[in-house]
Amino acid sequence: MSERKKKPEELRSHRWYGVKDLRSFGHRSRTAQMGFHASDYAGKPVIAILNTWSDINPCHTHFKQRVEEVKRGIWQAGGFPVEMPALSLSEPFQKPTTMLYRNLLAMEAEELLRSYPADGVVLMGGCDKTTPALIMGAIEMNLPTIFMPAGPMLRGDYQGAPLGSGSDSWKYWAELRAGNITEQDWSNVENGIARSPGHCMTMGTASTMTSVTEAMGLTLPGAASIPAPDSRHAQMATLTGKRIVDMVWEDLTIDQILTPAAYDNGVVTALALSGSTNAAVHLIAMARRSGYELDLQRFDELARSTPVLANIRPAGQYLMEDFFYAGGLRALLNHLGAAHLDLDTLTVTSQTLGQSIAGARCWNEDVIRPLNKALQSGDSLAVLRGNLAPDGAIIKPPAAEPHLLVHRGPAVVFEDYNDMSDRIDDPDLDIDANSVIVLREAGPQGAPGMPEWGQLPIPKKILATGVRDMLRISDARMSGTSYGACVLHIAPESHVGGPLALVRSGDIIELDVPQRRLNVLISDEEMAARRAAWTPPKPKFKRGYGTLYLKHVGQADTGCDFDFLARGKEEDGDEPEI
Ligand code: FES
Ligand code: MG
Repeated sequence: MSERKKKPEELRSHRWYGVKDLRSFGHRSRTAQMGFHASDYAGKPVIAILNTWSDINPCHTHFKQRVEEVKRGIWQAGGFPVEMPALSLSEPFQKPTTMLYRNLLAMEAEELLRSYPADGVVLMGGCDKTTPALIMGAIEMNLPTIFMPAGPMLRGDYQGAPLGSGSDSWKYWAELRAGNITEQDWSNVENGIARSPGHCMTMGTASTMTSVTEAMGLTLPGAASIPAPDSRHAQMATLTGKRIVDMVWEDLTIDQILTPAAYDNGVVTALALSGSTNAAVHLIAMARRSGYELDLQRFDELARSTPVLANIRPAGQYLMEDFFYAGGLRALLNHLGAAHLDLDTLTVTSQTLGQSIAGARCWNEDVIRPLNKALQSGDSLAVLRGNLAPDGAIIKPPAAEPHLLVHRGPAVVFEDYNDMSDRIDDPDLDIDANSVIVLREAGPQGAPGMPEWGQLPIPKKILATGVRDMLRISDARMSGTSYGACVLHIAPESHVGGPLALVRSGDIIELDVPQRRLNVLISDEEMAARRAAWTPPKPKFKRGYGTLYLKHVGQADTGCDFDFLARGKEEDGDEPEI
């Protein structure tokens, strides 16, 4: 511990436990009821552990065990651990999409910390939205905060070859549809693709967001790359518990860590990993909670100069297990170095980022490339604008077949997901490999929840000709494990009357990634006439959380946060008295 800045009576939990009144009597007697003696907690930091374990979240199955290891560390360091279960956003199971509930978990995290006697917090997450959601909630409370990443699962195994989460399901599904593999082969993929606890082990949203979180200083150094079942992951959990107690005494709050420079480091890391496009939505939302106006343009600026160093699927060749053995994120950050990162940012260790990556070695330069052998020199993400996306859209150029990055073709429009499912494989559909597949009603309000539908399916009859990529555009997101020439996050979305709502089949759509342009080649007058004739679709919810969501969710370019939550620190109200 560097320096003790707090006395026990200055702890936030002192208001619950330390004062002499009737209510604190209640808190103490009820803690005794749970089997704890006063000496277990008196004068000690109360550490909330927000645990997103659930029987239906396969990525967090080890959290039952890990939380015990976190607690062990907290006890050893002289803290009092309090596990608080929080909404588990389980990517494979939750419908229509976990994104509908990211802000709900963020609210829950914030309110758990506000309403209970937490002096510091360990956030346990990893499966896609859990990471940004927990952090968004914690930002508002501004306690000492440390993130314990779930860690990637082991490589998949298919007849002796590695399988990658997501990416290989799409790939082999297409092969099955094209008749190139058997039902038995497909069943072998099903049983081999996810064979241990942990989050997706491709560079999907989970690996991207946990790595970004580490680069921004919110985890112990090296934490995000350790495979979930590795015994070093359990050790990391214990060390995380130990560290948070000292962070409370040091009063090392999350706002000292998540500075604008840290957010830039986060963006650069996401880009150098060729990470999930979802990082753009989540980092913008997180930054805005911190009171910084991170925007899409910043992603585009940093993308131009950030080399892709991680050779991980879907943009590269390897998986997270290989990345760990090659040296993990510390090695990658060390390669990026001061040329691309601000190494003076503070981390949870109270050391700088530069200190926490100093001496990190790379053991396999094919997996974690040095700067002079980058997979590509820049442009792992591009922000597009034009009359189809006045507030921006994004594409991941390395995931697309290069010939599609400058492309013109006639639109084939689907009104919504069901329309697409019904007609995409219709042998009579007027479409060829040059066409541009357009899906609307897939944005934050339209779908609702902006699901990961953006990797629109290629019609069977075109797959049968050997074509594996086409230009596809929508207001949806795309799973980080997906690939293809998919323009995503079109803002404003079609549901609220964005120009995407006005495109018609046969219109020529023009994409020019080098020029960052996305246009539908119709005149302004024609666009205006179509707008005048447009009627808004019906809202998707009439009651419950859904109505709150529809009323308050923002568009993709601002991070899809709720308007009443996305605000800067200067507007913070006082915490209500307990
Ligand atoms: Fe949980 Fe992919 S399903 S991270
Ligand atoms: Mg995902």
